[in-house]
Amino acid sequence: MDPSKPALRGSGERPTSPSLLANPLDFIGVDHLRERQVCAVIDGLAAADALDRRSATAVLRFLNEELNVHLRDEEEDLFPLLARRCTEEDAIEGAIDRIRADQDEAMRLLPEVRAMLAGCLDSGGSLTAEERAVLLRFAAHVRRHLVAENAILLPIARARLTRADLRTLSKHMRMRRGLADPAETPDAE
Ligand SMILES: [Fe+2]
Repeated sequence: MDPSKPALRGSGERPTSPSLLANPLDFIGVDHLRERQVCAVIDGLAAADALDRRSATAVLRFLNEELNVHLRDEEEDLFPLLARRCTEEDAIEGAIDRIRADQDEAMRLLPEVRAMLAGCLDSGGSLTAEERAVLLRFAAHVRRHLVAENAILLPIARARLTRADLRTLSKHMRMRRGLADPAETPDAE
């Protein structure tokens, strides 16, 4: 892959390109493709006889550097904006509650997933059957979260969030990644 080219939309092979942050819902959508790709790698780790060190390292890096920021984008910005803008007929609260339950379960398993991958990389050993089951459970919760968000939350967000909301979301996502806001103007409807 040519590193001078921006990340392809939807490849999921690399961290989502910051160039998409101007369209924060697109960025989140591509982050979900990235998560889906990493879940497939996690499934592969759980199925393989011997640990693929390169894949395990890539998953650890994703967990440490990308997943937490993505979940904060949603918990701290996207969900509150949706709750503010959506009408009762959108029935968004129940959907957000279910998505949060999967996120919470993934986050509960996260320290164990990190520790087992780091432990195997350190020792050169293989994953136990129990550890493989934890990996599969973790990937299943992450996958359910992104499927529900793609099917329910992102389409509603595209319909309901205002331009000012999207600017705020973009700005906060940039700040969370230590990037400057290129359009530092007061939000106005
Ligand atoms: Fe998400």
